[in-house]
Amino acid sequence: MYVAQPIIWTDGSVTMLDQRRLPGEEISYIYTDYREVAKAIREMVIRGAPAIGVAAAMGAALGVLHSSATSVEALSAEFAEICDTLAKTRPTAVDLFWALERMKCRFAELTALTSDLAKVKQAMVEEAQQIHLEKKATDEAIGRFGAEFMPREGQVMTQCNAGALATGGIGTALGVIRVAFEQGRKLHVLVPETRPYLQGARLTAWELQKGGIPLTLITDNMVGHFLKTGKVGAVVTGADRIAANGDTANKIGTYQIAVLAKENHVPFYIAAPVSTFDLSILDGHGIPIEERSVAEVTHFQGVRIAPDVHAAHPAFDVTPARYIAAVFTERGVARAPYTESLRALASAAQSAVTAR
Ligand code: MRU
Repeated sequence: MYVAQPIIWTDGSVTMLDQRRLPGEEISYIYTDYREVAKAIREMVIRGAPAIGVAAAMGAALGVLHSSATSVEALSAEFAEICDTLAKTRPTAVDLFWALERMKCRFAELTALTSDLAKVKQAMVEEAQQIHLEKKATDEAIGRFGAEFMPREGQVMTQCNAGALATGGIGTALGVIRVAFEQGRKLHVLVPETRPYLQGARLTAWELQKGGIPLTLITDNMVGHFLKTGKVGAVVTGADRIAANGDTANKIGTYQIAVLAKENHVPFYIAAPVSTFDLSILDGHGIPIEERSVAEVTHFQGVRIAPDVHAAHPAFDVTPARYIAAVFTERGVARAPYTESLRALASAAQSAVTAR
């Protein structure tokens, strides 16, 4: 089945598919400068929490690889600047910071062992590639755990795009749907368009169509109607950051879908890697919400669709844990009370990383 490739490491450079141009055009760019990668993340050439993490890791590797520093000390100073630049791109998805932290740890490990810059550069590139490989395996595992919760047949709903384009693997929420579909479940996906950036209409619809998975595109204001009347068996979305108590930030609009799902007795699930957990944040109030340009609300593809008035564009919202029936991760399925189940999964992940 077709799997989109949003990002690949290409011999000293990073190639990214420009998601802003989909579905109309499939255009890729080749980046050799980490600052270009940071700009690509900020401007949404690449988006989706895990894919942003992979891009940041590859950006950090690019920065080290093409550095002209001649000593470990000079490279270390430059590396701090590289990581800072990449960190200041998008604030909500914790995968970005997780990936940078992982690259920083590897850098510290390597530079404590050797002053051979060629070796450090090579090993940093390998680490970024390893992160990408792990993300692919993570998606497959999330898909296997989550597929069990999908109906044997009927409609399921998602939000935004949590597919291959958003992760670099098979996707999280769409990975669950894909695995269930490949297992023979006769699913039909309801895809809300996801205003204002239209990740549902432009990206999820494109991915599902390419993958041969039946779908119906709906506008965001049809969600309640379909949950009430449409015989929806489950809702599954991705996540950008999950607080210790299970409160989950995801694309704006997810919260209202979760509330309407509960009202209509439809289970609402989150599919996300353990790297999306932020256990340092007690609940959703502590999750930083990115405010994006209001031009994305007042304009569509450069054309003004509203008068020149005050507008708002919080890019994410927080769904309280009480609306979430389960969280599918690569380590298993978390259920309420999340304060305990998420911590248990996180420490299982931690020991696996240490055992590597
Ligand atoms: O602003 P975006 O497109 O980066 O937002 C993406 C989402 O909200 C996704 O649902 C989330 O990152 C999970 S992607 C597997």
